Order: sequence, then C-alpha cells, then structure tokens
Amino acid sequence: MSSGFWAVVPAAGIGERMQSDRPKQYLQLEDKLVIEHTLQRLASHPEIKGIVIAIAQEDEWWPTVSVVVSCPLYVVHGGEQRSHSVLNALDKLSTLAADDTWVLVHDAARPCLRQEDIDRLLSALSNHDVGGLLGLPVNDTVKRTSNDDVIMETIERRNLWRASTPQMFRLVILKSALQASREQNITVTDEASAIEFVGLEPVMVEGHADNIKITVSTDLALAQLFMQQQRGEG
Ligand code: CTP
Ligand code: MG
Repeated sequence: MSSGFWAVVPAAGIGERMQSDRPKQYLQLEDKLVIEHTLQRLASHPEIKGIVIAIAQEDEWWPTVSVVVSCPLYVVHGGEQRSHSVLNALDKLSTLAADDTWVLVHDAARPCLRQEDIDRLLSALSNHDVGGLLGLPVNDTVKRTSNDDVIMETIERRNLWRASTPQMFRLVILKSALQASREQNITVTDEASAIEFVGLEPVMVEGHADNIKITVSTDLALAQLFMQQQRGEG
C-alpha cells in the first residue's frame, strides 16, 4: 500500500449560489473547465500520487467531460453534504493507500491553487502530528450582529482566519473524525472542524489570496484575472 500524499476533491455540489445552468465546476474558465484546472493543478504537483474525486450520483455533466490528468484518478459518488462526499472518497482511498497517508482535501471550486501553496502546506505540516489547512488572515473589522442586524460586538480580528483548502490530514485520523461527526450529527463544513471535534489541534498555514472559491458569477472574472497574474500577464 502506498503512503505519501493523495488528493481528495469534493465535486458533488450543485452550485446553487452561482445560479447557472450547470454546476459551477463545469463552467468554462479560460481554456478549460473549472474542474479541469483544479484537477490538473493537483495532479501536476510531484508529491501527489493520485486523486479521488467525488461526483454526484445524478451528475450528467461529468460523463461528458474528458479530463486528462497526469496521475491516477478514481471517481466515487458524492453525498448529501460536502463532508459525506469527502468520507466516500476516503473510503475508496482506504483501499488504495496506507493509514498514515497524507490526504489533501481540496474544493473542486478552487481552480487557482498555486503549486507554491501546496509546497507551503507540505513543508509546514509533513512532520506534524495532526495536520492543518491553508487560510487567510481576516483583514476587515469584524462585527457580530443580532438577528435584526443590530451590532452586538466588534470582534478582535487578531488571530482570526478564513479557512480555505487544501486541508491536509492523515487518512485514518480524518476518516475517523468525519465518521464521529456524522454519528453524532455534528455538521462540519470543513475537515478541520471534524478534527477539532475529536479534540485535535490543526495548524493554520497562510496561503495566497488568489486561491478563491468560485461561488457567485463575479468570481469567474476574478479567477481569470488571478490566472493571468499568475502567468505574469497581470
Ligand atoms: N461539495 C460536495 N458535496 C456536496 C456539497 C458540496 O462535494 N454535497 C463540494 C462542491 O462541489 C465544492 C466544494 O464541496 O467543490 C465546496 O462547496 P461549495 O462551494 O458550497 O459548492 P456547492 O455546494 O456546489 O455550492 P452552493 O453551496 O452554492 O450550492
Ligand atoms: Mg455548498
């Protein structure tokens, strides 16, 4: 069984907020689909041994695209929530890789990931006991409001971060943390939350601000701009 580094890509969402005619991972971005950018950026990193992608069972788009990647690619069905999609992918990965394999879970909807950010994550965490994730420090002043939008407090932004992906944990630890969250009906919106839920302490690693998650239609233009900048055209 191989260990090393594998990627898991949850791609089973419907992209409701994008309000497009297809899930956002199948939208065109420059010369490729969003999902092709994402997969190729992971696959082209020399340390990534393979990818497991979670696709919705009723997804009619995936069979129509032919994604060429330079590493093994396995496809599983997604689940109702992102964490279920990730868990399905980890079940598959357990048949392919050793328990101590590092898994980088990365959103299909983040096509601008830099090799440099993957490098940062690997070098910061490879010798760590638990693992961690890429994130960005919060720059704005942060307020908490009541349900009717009245400000209740201003929150000290020091030590506040926006979590992004990849999130990198050991296969067996991540799988059992996600299973525990599911069994106890805890909704986790990222892998780190599941790890925290079982009492472990993930590490935050600062990434680049261009690793955006495509969520609404204006994000596509932004992603295109970031790609041009990454090529030195910006
Ligand atoms: N995802 C998944 N399985 C789900 C829900 C989401 O694999 N049941 C994936 C999405 O495909 C995406 C990533 O998780 O790559 C991050 O989720 P998000 O940005 O919320 O995507 P969507 O759920 O598709 O978008 P929306 O919330 O607007 O519907
Ligand atoms: Mg969603």
